[in-house]
Amino acid sequence: MANEKLWGGRFTQPAAAEFERFSESFSFDRRLLRAEIRGSRAYARALERAGVLAAGEAAALAAALDRLEQEAGGASGAAEAGAVAPEDVHTFVAQRLEQLAGPAARKLQTGRSRNEQVALDLRLYLLDRRGELEGALAGYVAALARFAAEHAEVLIPGYTHLQRAQPVSLGHHALAYAEMLLRDAGRLADAYRRLAVLPLGSGALAGTPLAVDRAALAAELGMSAASQNSLDAVSDRDFAAELLFALALAGVHLSRWAEDWIFYSSAECGWLALGDQFASGSSLMPQKKNPDALELIRGKAARQIGSLLQLLTLLKSLPLAYNRDLQEDKEPVFDALDTAIASLRVAAGVVATTAVRRERAAAAAADPALLATDLADLLVEAGVAFRDAHELVGQLIARTVDQGRDFRQLTDDELRAWAPQIEPARVRDLSAAASVARRAALGGTAPAQVRAQAARVAKLAADLQTAPSDPQR
Ligand code: ARG
Repeated sequence: MANEKLWGGRFTQPAAAEFERFSESFSFDRRLLRAEIRGSRAYARALERAGVLAAGEAAALAAALDRLEQEAGGASGAAEAGAVAPEDVHTFVAQRLEQLAGPAARKLQTGRSRNEQVALDLRLYLLDRRGELEGALAGYVAALARFAAEHAEVLIPGYTHLQRAQPVSLGHHALAYAEMLLRDAGRLADAYRRLAVLPLGSGALAGTPLAVDRAALAAELGMSAASQNSLDAVSDRDFAAELLFALALAGVHLSRWAEDWIFYSSAECGWLALGDQFASGSSLMPQKKNPDALELIRGKAARQIGSLLQLLTLLKSLPLAYNRDLQEDKEPVFDALDTAIASLRVAAGVVATTAVRRERAAAAAADPALLATDLADLLVEAGVAFRDAHELVGQLIARTVDQGRDFRQLTDDELRAWAPQIEPARVRDLSAAASVARRAALGGTAPAQVRAQAARVAKLAADLQTAPSDPQR
């Protein structure tokens, strides 16, 4: 059976060597080996119940599948393909089962098509790696929560338009990304609900003529339901597209965080000092410490967007039902998943090893211009209409910035000349710390609020880490 095809009967000429090389997928779909074994095990039992396999044949197949699983070893499957590479993972399993179980193996394909097998395997594979992905995401969120709790009191300038705007807590800034990633986790959970549907029992495209209990098969394989339309089940990949969208968006979120932290760790800000564990040097300039880990996280987002686009473009205008184009779905899916897990783990490492340079942050947050809004609020409290207060403060800031003065150092007379309603002592009490402390309503940057949010986020991350991989979740 050296390298027997599953479809050779009507052919008289062998495939051209270059076409074989062009069309093989075993080099990358061998990752689906464990899923293929699980699906085959369940299908063999279903065939036995449907009366296609005798009890002895089913037992021989079960033993052979166990053996194949041992050979496959770890999660990714390290089975040897032999001298001639098989066409794909389904062919590989069929060939090896025949060696191990003899003629019974030739019955396992009864009513079953690789079109449904590959759809099933991809779903099972993605479900298998769910815990790993969610664990990596939770690890990053947990690291942000720890960072935020520790640095709730550290203040930095907050920005809009990359211009200094108002003081914010450094912990508040970190938790903004935790919120984004928690929503990404929600999108993933939602995608997994639709992903946990069983295509097996759809045949090549038209459904199975055999008396297989598809609901029982679904339950046996940890799926929440069996698919309702065979044409759809063998050809849809929207479960993968949804997952890749969620991963690409998480990558975009990480890229924004990476960009902020690259800036914050530059000499221009200097508020963060990256750990040596996640920084690199220059081969020429001895003084350099470069944020390569963050830059790569930022760059990997491009790759993840590329994977999503690749998959969507593959699906666009594809006629029903299965087409071989679909073989091209696997590499972007695998790459997006690997990349997301790697980026999240490195991101968590960066957060855990970054030190905060509190004096530098405090110096930047002490910029009096950041208090302009609070000064306008004081005028409003003294009875000035906000638009007028805005105007007055704008003029004062322009003047004092020109003179290189802090508006809090103006004399009482100067302040009263500027705005007769103002109480000079209250102007002098304005500070970054007072500014953030005032913003204590839900979602605000007051350190007390940040500490409460950090605790909430830490708990959500812990729940995500320990949640069972239940498709109903
Ligand atoms: N290797 C194929 C894939 O990944 C498996 C399905 C092949 N089906 C077919 N009709 N040629 O899509």
